[in-house]
Amino acid sequence: MNIAIIGTGNVGGALATQWAKAGHHIFLGVQDTQSFKGIALLSNPNTTVQHVQEAVNAADVILIAAPATAAARVAQSLGETGGKIIIDAMNIVGNRGPLGFSNTADAILANTEATDVVKCFNTTGFNNMQNPNYGDQAIDAFVAGDSVRGKEAAIQLALDAGFGACYDIGGNDKFDLMEQFAFFWINLAMFQGQGREIGFKLLKR
Ligand SMILES: NC(=O)c1ccc[n+]([C@@H]2O[C@H](COP(=O)([O-])OP(=O)(O)OC[C@H]3O[C@@H](n4cnc5c(N)ncnc54)[C@H](OP(=O)(O)O)[C@@H]3O)[C@@H](O)[C@H]2O)c1
Repeated sequence: MNIAIIGTGNVGGALATQWAKAGHHIFLGVQDTQSFKGIALLSNPNTTVQHVQEAVNAADVILIAAPATAAARVAQSLGETGGKIIIDAMNIVGNRGPLGFSNTADAILANTEATDVVKCFNTTGFNNMQNPNYGDQAIDAFVAGDSVRGKEAAIQLALDAGFGACYDIGGNDKFDLMEQFAFFWINLAMFQGQGREIGFKLLKR
């Protein structure tokens, strides 16, 4: 896939690296192509840098991994997004998010022409995106959204990033639940002292 990464920090950088290694074409979309967080990503295979709208134009799939406070502004800056898939990896932490929205995916839907917006990769730490493996098992990812093709793309990209599986947890009405699940991980990792090297896996019998 041709993937634009908007927000090339911890999360964007981890996923850009995994996807580049898996053979996808990565277009880093930044505000200043000479100076940006994640400039070392340019040494990854299949990876180039452009201004945000050029990266979006080159892509079929857009990952947004910017601060939640910038969600509406970033969405407005993307340019033409009709027919493109947007994967939202952001979380509103401590009420710092787009005004008038309880989650970032709804802010993206309200500020782009894209209809294929799904939420994925927000429910675990970026360290688990750099390396989803725990012993001989890989942790799972989760995705929500009304867009069937958006979820298919996110599920494929989760597998390509090394997650064990990516479970569909429902439609746009589950965007808030996805952010609450992220807080569950943050609470365990940060506030209950478990540390960042923890992850969730669905067990079945
Ligand atoms: N950290 C985690 O473990 C984790 C896990 C899951 C989800 N998340 C969520 O993922 C998001 C990113 O977190 P992070 O830790 O990756 O943050 P980060 O390392 O601070 O990276 C944020 C990136 O967004 C870019 N950015 C800011 N405003 C922008 C704009 N208007 N247009 C384009 N790019 C813009 C920044 O670029 P500049 O530096 O050039 O401003 C930077 O590259 C947050 O919403 C966070 O809640 C984080």
